[in-house]
Amino acid sequence: MQYFSKQLKRLKTLCNASTLKKQFFDKPYEKYVLKIKNYKPKKLDKPDKVLNKISAWEGLEMIVSDIISQSNCGTEKCLEFGVEYGYSTVVFSNYFKQVIGVDLFTGDIHTANKNDIYEDVKTYLAEYRNIELIKADYREFINENHDNYNLIHVDIVHTYEDTFKCGLWSAEHAKCVIFHDTESFPDVKRAVRDIAKQSGKSFYNYPYFYGLGILY
Ligand SMILES: C[S@@+](CC[C@H](N)C(=O)[O-])C[C@H]1O[C@@H](n2cnc3c(N)ncnc32)[C@H](O)[C@@H]1O
Repeated sequence: MQYFSKQLKRLKTLCNASTLKKQFFDKPYEKYVLKIKNYKPKKLDKPDKVLNKISAWEGLEMIVSDIISQSNCGTEKCLEFGVEYGYSTVVFSNYFKQVIGVDLFTGDIHTANKNDIYEDVKTYLAEYRNIELIKADYREFINENHDNYNLIHVDIVHTYEDTFKCGLWSAEHAKCVIFHDTESFPDVKRAVRDIAKQSGKSFYNYPYFYGLGILY
């Protein structure tokens, strides 16, 4: 009797719609229907200026120049959501005339830092004259801003909802949008996949350094 009840429970779990979807549909769906392509850099380029701060972004600086070339996005204006200590922001400052970095500067549920680091980061980045920092929630920023950018980087709190909201706005305001942590946070990859579907952009995934989703 106990055996049958166990088997029945297993069968119920297997028939659960989301389990079935995960097991049989999601993987081929990613590959064949949504066609997530592997990003293959044609060249690697180490930028001149790199910030001496520990960041999970380290390593990705080598492909930024290549992303600009392959996406043909231009180099006037770059917007970043999620600056933290400024590692990626400084990388972008090598390639774009103007870089705007938006952050609460108080960390989030996924960051080790939970303090207000705005004044410190302003000091670290003061020598990079083409970087402007804005202390704001991305939600406030996107409600009030209607500009277009060549490239937008999304690296805020790694929930599906926030990545989707911020990323969809970004896809509507930039030729190329990149998202960090597609490999370490499945919710980020799922959000990027749905943004690609909704915006009609192609989704290239670079699986190294915690994963970079690239839409253009
Ligand atoms: C993973 S860190 C960014 C790392 C950075 N790109 C780098 O190169 O090291 C995420 C940042 O997003 C910021 N953040 C989280 N939620 C936010 C929100 N709603 N609006 C603005 N910034 C937010 C946090 O304060 C944190 O500094």
